[in-house]
Amino acid sequence: MAALDKSAATPATVDKAPAPLVLAGVMSLSAPATDPALLASLFQPLRLSDVLTLKNRIVLAPCTRNCADPGLVPTAGAADYYVERAAAGLLVTEATLITQHCQGYRDTPGIYTEAQVRGWRRVTDRVHAAGGAIFSQLWHVGRLAHPYYTGVPAVCPSAVPTEGLCHQVRGVVLNYMPVRSLDASEIRRLVRTYLDAALNAMAAGFDGVELHGGNGYLIDQFLRQTTNKRYDRYGGRIEDRARFAIEVTDAIAGRIGPERVAMRLSPAAYFGLMDYTPGDEETLIHLLQNLSQRRLAYVHLALHDDHQVYGYLKGRASAFLRRHYRGTLIGNGGYKPAEAAAAVGAGQFDLAAFGRLFIANPDFVERLRLGSELRSYERGLLELFR
Ligand SMILES: Cc1cc2nc3c(=O)[nH]c(=O)nc-3n(C[C@H](O)[C@H](O)[C@H](O)COP(=O)(O)O)c2cc1C
Repeated sequence: MAALDKSAATPATVDKAPAPLVLAGVMSLSAPATDPALLASLFQPLRLSDVLTLKNRIVLAPCTRNCADPGLVPTAGAADYYVERAAAGLLVTEATLITQHCQGYRDTPGIYTEAQVRGWRRVTDRVHAAGGAIFSQLWHVGRLAHPYYTGVPAVCPSAVPTEGLCHQVRGVVLNYMPVRSLDASEIRRLVRTYLDAALNAMAAGFDGVELHGGNGYLIDQFLRQTTNKRYDRYGGRIEDRARFAIEVTDAIAGRIGPERVAMRLSPAAYFGLMDYTPGDEETLIHLLQNLSQRRLAYVHLALHDDHQVYGYLKGRASAFLRRHYRGTLIGNGGYKPAEAAAAVGAGQFDLAAFGRLFIANPDFVERLRLGSELRSYERGLLELFR
């Protein structure tokens, strides 16, 4: 087991924040105009699988928009948002709820009712008509769910309390409430809930699903010792902590094909009230070795800043994923186009996802192609979402 190098891990602690939107909101990001010749690697097509070839290596990172209607159906504005960005090789949707009991943030869309499936069908039809490809990011927030939205206590691997205030969009501030641990039969039912959501995503016309296994949400809570204190099939040993992620992946891959399933992971635990415990990296390595055998669409790094070096990962988080996962890798986290292109060119990852710069520049891909200046990301841009 790698020893925790405190100096290298320090930025992870400093960056810790109670929720993605808070962190996302306070960090601006800018990038200079770049000579298109330096970006050539981003414009190479990539055969993702037998069923999908991407026209370039640029990915729209999943970004929560908090704009769903009262039935948590994506709005016409959501369709406009994705269509405007369809020049990317791949779009990944904002995190999307797999059931009504797993909501932690305001106005986030779901994919568990017929109306939601119809709403997403309007999105995917328009994206496909514009020549784009789109995956649905499937989301259960586990202990970060809130009874304010769900009416019931949040469920999670172990009843490790969430503490403090959760600042949300449009002035909502919630106190975290007591949470409850799942029993084994509930966990099995949750695997089925993920599968149902994935089948709904297929019915809605998505090209595939990305399981949100990062940022301190339910799947991540199973992987980490901070939040998983179980001693049964789903906790205790490394393979038990990884079991939920693998069972969900296999349940879905068995029905829609592994080439339509992807996993997002946060090897650097700094988010969603998560902490690193020595040995967590062994669980991730076990999981990545298992995922490597499954011919999935891709694995996707979730991180705000991939420039940080972590002692327990023996380098950058993207390098950790590259070392332990054999398959297509999406890099992400504070990348400016030129350095993302260099990383793709050097084989550090195969595709580059952009969040904040793509929010600020709907025509991001065209601007890169032409070498035009990019607008900076600022928190206020989130207010413009419809
Ligand atoms: C407004 C906003 C919302 C986000 N929502 C999600 C989300 O729903 N799912 C997710 O996996 N990551 C989410 N993220 C993280 C991004 O996908 C990405 O990892 C992060 O912004 C770092 O990439 P960037 O430096 O290119 O912005 C969000 C980020 C921002 C800025």
